[in-house]
Formats: sequence, C-alpha cells, structure tokens
Amino acid sequence: MTASNQTDAQAATTQVPVPAEFAQKAHVASRAAYDELCAQAQADHAGFWANHARKLLSWHKPFTKTLDESDAPFFKWFEDGQLNASYNCLDRHVANGLGDKVAIIFEADDGTVTRVTYSELLERVCRLANALKAEGVQKGDRVVIYLPMSVEGVVAMQACARIGATHSVVFGGFSAQSLRDRVEDAGAVLLITADEQQRGGKSLPLKAIVDEAIGLGGCDSIRRVIVFRRTGGKVAMTEGRDVWLHDVMAAQPATCEPEWVSAEHPLFLLYTSGSTGKPKGVQHSTGGYLLHATLTTQWTFDLKPDDVFWCTADIGWVTGHTYVTYGPLSNGGTQVVFEGVPTYPDAARFWRMIEAHKVSIFYTAPTAIRALIKAAETTPEVHPRNFNLGSLRLLGTVGEPINPAAWTWYHREIGGGRCPIVDTFWQTETGGHMITPLPGAHALTPGSCTLPFPGIDAAVVDETGKEVPWGQGGVLVVRKPWPSMIRTIWGDPERFKKSYYPADFGGKYYLAGDGAIRDADTGYFTITGRIDDVLNVSGHRMGTMEIESALVSHPLVAEAAVVGRPDDLTGEAICAFVVLKRSRPSGEEARQLAAELRNHVAQEIGPIAKPKDIRFGDNLPKTRSGKIMRRLLRVIAKGDAVTQDTSTLENPAILDQLAQAN
Ligand code: WTA
Repeated sequence: MTASNQTDAQAATTQVPVPAEFAQKAHVASRAAYDELCAQAQADHAGFWANHARKLLSWHKPFTKTLDESDAPFFKWFEDGQLNASYNCLDRHVANGLGDKVAIIFEADDGTVTRVTYSELLERVCRLANALKAEGVQKGDRVVIYLPMSVEGVVAMQACARIGATHSVVFGGFSAQSLRDRVEDAGAVLLITADEQQRGGKSLPLKAIVDEAIGLGGCDSIRRVIVFRRTGGKVAMTEGRDVWLHDVMAAQPATCEPEWVSAEHPLFLLYTSGSTGKPKGVQHSTGGYLLHATLTTQWTFDLKPDDVFWCTADIGWVTGHTYVTYGPLSNGGTQVVFEGVPTYPDAARFWRMIEAHKVSIFYTAPTAIRALIKAAETTPEVHPRNFNLGSLRLLGTVGEPINPAAWTWYHREIGGGRCPIVDTFWQTETGGHMITPLPGAHALTPGSCTLPFPGIDAAVVDETGKEVPWGQGGVLVVRKPWPSMIRTIWGDPERFKKSYYPADFGGKYYLAGDGAIRDADTGYFTITGRIDDVLNVSGHRMGTMEIESALVSHPLVAEAAVVGRPDDLTGEAICAFVVLKRSRPSGEEARQLAAELRNHVAQEIGPIAKPKDIRFGDNLPKTRSGKIMRRLLRVIAKGDAVTQDTSTLENPAILDQLAQAN
C-alpha cells in the first residue's frame, strides 16, 4: 500500500472531530441529538419508524398498523398503508413547485452532459409506464432491466414502480448465463436493455448478450424486449419480440396515474451472492424500503435542497438503487449520474466532474479511491490538487472496509481536510445504511463505520447470540426488525430463514454475515469481514461456490476450490485452486490454461468474477472425510507458511505443491 505518508496503524488511532460549521447546519446536528433519536427508538421502536414514515412519505392511504411480527421473521411494516414510490420520487416534487429543478445531471462516457428536470423525468417515466402497460405488464409482474448507467435506467426502474411491476436490475457486466439464470428465477415477462454500453471509450454489447441469454433457453416467460438506442451500434431485432424504446415511448401519453400499492408490495428483486452456488433474489418492499432510502439520504448524507449529490455506483448494485434511483429523488435532490469508469479518459475523471458540476456530496467505493491514489502518485496531471474541489462538503464510502491510510488521503486530498467522511456499512439485504456516521454528530475514526443509524439495533454477539464486551470480536447481528429489511428470498422463503435467521442464534436476530468488533472506549464498530464463503472484490460480492461451479463447468476441470486473499487495490482478490481431469500442467501450458479458465469464468458469470490467481495441483488438501480445507488454502493463497495443525489431512504433501505452483 502506497496510499499515504501515514500508515494504517497510525491513522486508525486518530479521532477527527465534527467540524463546527458542518454541525451547525446539519439535519442531525450533535452527538446529543443523535443520542436523543436513539433513545426515542429505544423507548418505542415501531413508533419511531411510524413517525418518520408519516413525515417523510406521501401516503395515498395512511397505514393504521406499523409493525406486524405475527409471522416472524417475515416482518411486515405499514402493511395496510398504500403509496407509490414513483409518486414519492417525482409527482409530489412537481406539485410542490420543483418541476423545473434539475433532478439528474447525466454525464456520458465521452463527457457529454444532459440535464433532466423533475417535470421532464416525470413525463419520461409516465410514457414508459404507459408503454409497459400497453405491453400487458401488470402489477406484480417482474421486469428485468439490463441497461447501462443512463437516465433511461432510472426511468425504467421508476416506470416499473409507477405501475406496481417489480423490477430486477441485472448489472451490465454480467454474462448471458447469469442474465438467463436471473430472468428464469424471477419469471420476468419483459426485459429492458440497450443496443450497447459505452465504457472507457469502448462499445460493449448488451442486446447481443440478451439474445444469447434467451437463446440458452429457460426464458420463455419473456414476451417483449425493449431496446434503448445508446450507441447506434448494429443489433439484431427479433420480429414480434423486440421493439425500440423511443418508438414505444413516443406512442404513449405523457401522464400516467400511479398504481397505489400496499407498503409491502415488492418494489424490486436484486440478485446477490450467498454461500451457495445460486445467487439469491433479495426481495424489497415499497414503503419500508422507500422510508429508509429517504431518511438515510437526509441524515447520513445531510442532503439539502441546494446540494449536488453524486453517488458513483451503478444501478446494477443496491447502492445504485437506494442512492441513485430512490433516495436522492424521494428527497427532491439534484444528483449526478455518470456513465463510464473512473480512469477514462484519465484518472482525473472524478475530480474533473466534481469541479464541473460543483458536486457537494460525493459517495464512492474504497477500491476506486485506492486506484485513484495510485494513479495520482504516479501521474502528476491526474492528482486532485490540479482541480478545484471547493464545492465538496461531505464524502462517503461504501461496499467494503476502507483502510485508514486511504481514508486519510481521501479526507486530506479530496475533502481538503474540512469534509467529514461517512463510512457506511450496509448490504443488499438491508436496503440502506445500517452502521454509519451521521456527519454532524459523530467524531470519526478512520476505518470505523462508527455507530448504528437511529432505530437500527445492531450488536456484536458470540455464537450463542449473547452480546460480547466492547473490544472483543464477534458476529454482527441486528436484534430488531427495521422497515427496509429484506422481506424474503424470491421463491425460497426457507432459504431466507436459514440464511438470515438461523436457529443457532436462537432464530431471533438478523445475521448480517459479517464479523465486527466495537472499540473498547467509544463503542464504535469496525467490520472485520465476511464470516461466510462470500468474497468482496472491489466492493462487489462474489460467492466462492459460484466461481467454483463456473470453473468445474469447464470440460477439463475435475475439481476447484476458491478462496480470497488480501489485495492492496481490490480489497480481496480471487484465488482458485484447480485439479484437472488430466495431469497437472506447468510452465507455458499452465499459463495458457489459466488464461482459458479465466475467460471461461467471465463467460459463465462475468469479468468481475475472473480469478486473479489460478494454481493447479494434483489434488486439493482434504480431510479424511473428503472435506476441502479452505482455511489452509487461504493461508497458501496469501503466501504465508502453513503453521496450523495438518494432522487431519489426508494428503499433507499437497500443501507444498500448491504453495509452489503458480
Ligand atoms: C461489505 C453493498 C466494511 C460487508 C452496500 C457486507 C462493508 C457486504 C461496508 C455487502 C463498509 C459493505 N465497511 N464492509 N462500510 N459496506 N461492506 O450486498 O461485507 O453488495 O456484508 O452491499 O459488503 O455487500 P452488498
């Protein structure tokens, strides 16, 4: 790590106080104000959330009951209330005189800027909503969205919400196979895609991948494919199935009455990796989800009417759902939406955009920060000091732990030493921030996500579910239900229970899947990493089993085991140990085969799942009962010597072979 002239260890002990001028104007303006909110939630958990739900959201029919625990852990919030997410994000702001306010500043890969006001966005959402209805999409139907970062992506999600269709966005980097699996699992009736996507000056296919996915079979539920013309690249259109987005929208009226749905109506599914080979369709509600998206955007990001908010996440991930499509719009904010990569046309892209659009709140992933630190250190022209970043007042990070040295650089070089950093811990399943600083309330410790959001009852416990003392590591749980929590895994309620409310914790607490430790003095939380077989590579969740299944689907592979190892840039890197159906390759042949397997994984899942390291062995380290000893593989992957007890191993000699192989 070359990130800074301060080491992680030095930075982690520094406390950074809340800047007085920030606190003065903040939504939550002091530690005392935060403590008071927590006390309110403690005294009346449901009442706390009900109060904010009434204040922040517009209800078509008010709810009379807040929390229904009768079928725990399938909790229901505000169930007899009716609302519409798109109405809350658009119509109510237009009705309040914000029609001409810029909702989205879109900057394309080539730097072209488009501004869309709330009125214009509403009109586009209505046209597409009408088009979806005209195609026969009904309330509760699933629509898969496979689009690049674009205004159209946000419009497509909002249009689904408007008619009560449940969207399922698939990240544009996923392969045909992954797309097919998600379409099939969701039973989607319609797919919205683009001809191509534009990333780093290159056009990459989308529609062709959709055709390939449908060609794989199992997508019979899809009746229609709507195609957004992004690049104008040539694509095949299947007669009777494929239509152009601009054609179907132009044919429709510019207004569309929102469909009022129960607060529990599924707003979206989002597939994420778990500890088995099959990704899970995380199902979110409308009311509870939107409440948390709205409230966290206000309190964590301290969003005000004049702010220019920029969350760099793709709509293919949960961060792009909550902090691009829903949170900023529900608050009537102005946000930047960006297509491209942080390193094109050069590694100053972010800094140039912050300057150009006068961004005041900036939210990105630690991986991006680390990559940009490296670039700034080697290429002086892209150093942030060349840009005027004076518009910034708040910074944020998400998706993975930020190492204190990168935090310090971010704070100093991007935030000019004056901007607080909110290190937000949350998950696809939690819908929004769970443990995060409120920037006007919490002094910051680099590397710590500080304290739970008010109303979130997070704790660190041992295997029996008992809270451990501060200073002692344990497992992160949430003891009380909260409005934006996952409702179920689509089509698999049993897996939902088993994954998140396992019996070994008494079945009572939500199990996040992460380890955590609280600081002995401040009680601040630090996330210590996943406790299951899920890796976090560049802030993206990857299941080791998914990658293993992809590897063994290659005709030459007999067996594979995947583990993570620490990586300075990407947080964790994927390391695969592979046994072939024929003898172990070496030298040039091994290199070629490794490249072939990497491409195979990209084909099966997507380029983000490519193993960085592939090692071939005659076998894998196994116990006498045949269980692969992943813990030993993790040690080898890291390059450390195996010092653990290996007496239960069937074949200890294999360790040396794997340690040397590359
Ligand atoms: C990790 C992303 C440390 C964690 C919003 C979690 C973090 C997983 C942080 C969820 C953070 C997320 N500090 N670790 N601030 N934020 N994580 O579902 O392991 O893509 O369980 O949601 O990312 O990843 P997901």
